[in-house]
Amino acid sequence: MIGRLNHVAIVVPDLAAAAETYRSTLGADVSDPIDLAAHGVTTVFVVLPNTKIELLHPLGPNSPIQSFLDRNPSGGMHHLCYEVEDILAARDHLVAQGARVLGDGEPKIGAHDKPVLFLHPKDFCGTLVELEQR
Ligand code: CO
Repeated sequence: MIGRLNHVAIVVPDLAAAAETYRSTLGADVSDPIDLAAHGVTTVFVVLPNTKIELLHPLGPNSPIQSFLDRNPSGGMHHLCYEVEDILAARDHLVAQGARVLGDGEPKIGAHDKPVLFLHPKDFCGTLVELEQR
């Protein structure tokens, strides 16, 4: 059911420093910071030949990633995003398998203007999983 790894998201305490690490030390193709107010994050996209890395930093007082940064002050891997063909069919399959979908279970429009869902980390090897419709 899952397809390509769309991105790996990493929460960072200092977005400029993280972008510079990926740009200069690792020699990657790095975007300018983009504020995604609806998601409460500022993000920098690192484009790799086979996937993307998203560097995330909290934006605004109610950012959903602030508590992650509070628990992990030096940052860390936040989630993996897999592509699926049909997000509603994927959700229904997963729910039938006993997996927990976060929130109200309805897809939201994600950072790439495509429908996304998040799955409970306890059901997926301790990793928060995002599904994005292709
Ligand atoms: Co994501």
